[in-house]
Amino acid sequence: MNPVEEWRLETRRLGRRVLVYDCVDSTNSRAAAWAMDPRHDGLAFLAGQQTAGRGRQGRSWHCPPGSGVLLSLLLFPPPTLRRPALLTAWATVSVCKTIQAGTGLEPRIKWPNDILVEGRKVCGILIEQGKATVVGIGLNLNQTTDDFLASGLPEAASLFQVTGRKFDCRRVAGELIRFLDEEYDPLLRGELAHLEKSWRDLIGLNGKGIHAGCRDGVIQGRLHQLSLEALVIEDQEGKMIQVPPEKVQHLQKS
Ligand code: BTN
Repeated sequence: MNPVEEWRLETRRLGRRVLVYDCVDSTNSRAAAWAMDPRHDGLAFLAGQQTAGRGRQGRSWHCPPGSGVLLSLLLFPPPTLRRPALLTAWATVSVCKTIQAGTGLEPRIKWPNDILVEGRKVCGILIEQGKATVVGIGLNLNQTTDDFLASGLPEAASLFQVTGRKFDCRRVAGELIRFLDEEYDPLLRGELAHLEKSWRDLIGLNGKGIHAGCRDGVIQGRLHQLSLEALVIEDQEGKMIQVPPEKVQHLQKS
């Protein structure tokens, strides 16, 4: 499994080296195989096809060859940034910015890790942490309705289905890495406010009636405040309940 190309992007930190493969098992597995050395911080892995693409909760990720971005980044974040909620916010916001810039569409973040366009999932994110952090992103670009039906994913969508135009996967991947890099740098300096606002706006549930599914039950109420530290939910008796984002598995409009 050797890369067919290697890019050197003029970014600050991420993607200064990008290993591009025709076909791998999973870009997340390729990235994890380089996790022994922190000097590989920011290394990116891109593939045209995966034979064992992984999704969240043990699911697999299907994408016909050349139909989407299959990208993983290997990171060695400082302990303050190793929080799943923060890394998820950073990755989801960067994907949304890439979609906005490339299409003019208005994507939304579906809690916690999905990106929706016109209510349908176009992107999924899988963050795996061990010695290092691997952030894997699958962005659907050129799939047709038949492709999704063949994979048993009638609810999914691609940017082609929404815009009617085909996308150059490598070009979009390059743009995505640039946005990820741009958004990552302030985080390393402890500047989270800008990311937090973009994330909150893209989730779009502030002030709305919500259901928050946590491991120990469902909280129903109005989302009073959303930050990277806590969700503040006003329940039906007017009591304010604070929950750390890591505890919330599902968040939906009531
Ligand atoms: C999900 O929505 O379940 C997350 C899907 C994540 C898929 C991407 S594709 C690139 C990277 N490599 C993998 O094996 N998975 C992630």
